[in-house]
Amino acid sequence: MVIEAGSKRGGPRSVAQWESDHEYRYISLRRATPNVGAFIDDIDVSRLDEPTFNEVRRALAEHCVLFFRNQDISTEDHIAFGRRFGDLDVHPAAANATGHPEILVIAADEHSSRANGEAWHSDVSCQTEPPMASILHMHETPPSGGDTMFSSMYAAYEALSPRMQSYLEGLTALHDGEHVYRGLYDNVADKPKYPRAEHPIVRTHPESGRKCLFVNRSFTTKIVGLPIDEGNAILQYLYAHMEHPNFQVRFNWEPRSIAMWDNRCAQHRAIWDYWPHRRYGHRVTVKGDRPF
Ligand code: SIN
Repeated sequence: MVIEAGSKRGGPRSVAQWESDHEYRYISLRRATPNVGAFIDDIDVSRLDEPTFNEVRRALAEHCVLFFRNQDISTEDHIAFGRRFGDLDVHPAAANATGHPEILVIAADEHSSRANGEAWHSDVSCQTEPPMASILHMHETPPSGGDTMFSSMYAAYEALSPRMQSYLEGLTALHDGEHVYRGLYDNVADKPKYPRAEHPIVRTHPESGRKCLFVNRSFTTKIVGLPIDEGNAILQYLYAHMEHPNFQVRFNWEPRSIAMWDNRCAQHRAIWDYWPHRRYGHRVTVKGDRPF
C-alpha cells in the first residue's frame, strides 16, 4: 500500500529516506532523527584521510547536519577543516574578533543584548552565492540550555502536497541583508550596503540532486512577481510548515562539540534560554554556489 505523506487517511507527515544507511565504510554514522542530523562517532576532524573525508561530505548532503563530539582542535585546525570543503566566507557584517577574518565568534553572556541566530535561517542567504556550509566549534557551554535546532528543507519540501510543489516551481524570492545586519553588531561600523539576492524558492541540492525549500524567516522579504498579500500568505504558510517537529533535530552542545550544517538543505535556530550564563564558540563558513 502506498501511503501519501500527510494524507487525510492518517498516513505519515514525512517519509524518511533510509536507503543510504549501510553505504558508509569509513565513518560510523548514527542518525539523530529519521529526517535530519547524524552523529559521526570516533573521528578527529583535523586528521581525516581522503576516503573518510569524502564520506563526511556525502553524509552532510544526506543528513543536512553532522554532529561530532570531543573535537580538541585549534583555531588553525578548524579553519583547515573548513577549507577542505571549499574557500571560506568572511561574514559581511560581524566584527573580526580573533585576528582570523574567517572566524565568526558566536558568543553571549550576561552583558549581551542579543544572541546570534535566534530566528530560523540559512546563513547569509542574502548573498548571490550563499554559503554551502557552516562549522561551529563550541568552546564553552552554559550549565544547561543553549541548544541549536535544525530543520531539513528536503523533508519540508517532500511533505508538501504535489499541488503546492507545482505552485512553487519556478517562483523566486528576494533575500535581503539590510534589515538583518544594519545596526546589529555593537561597536562595528555599518557597511554602506548589505547583500541582497533573488533565489529560487525550491532549489536543487547540487550534490544529492534532491529538492529543498529555500526561503527563511530572517532574510526572505517577498516572492517576486506575486501580489504582496498572496506572497506573504504563502511565505507564512511555508515558514509554519518548515517548523513542523518531524523535520527537526535539537542539538545539545558540550564543550568541544562541532555541528556542521549544510545551508543548502537545512535551516537552524539558536536558543538563547541560558542568560546570564555564557556560551562561546567559533564558526567558519564555507562559500557556496548560486542556487538553481
Ligand atoms: C548561527 O550560526 O546562526 C548561530 C548558531 C548557534 O549559536 O547555535
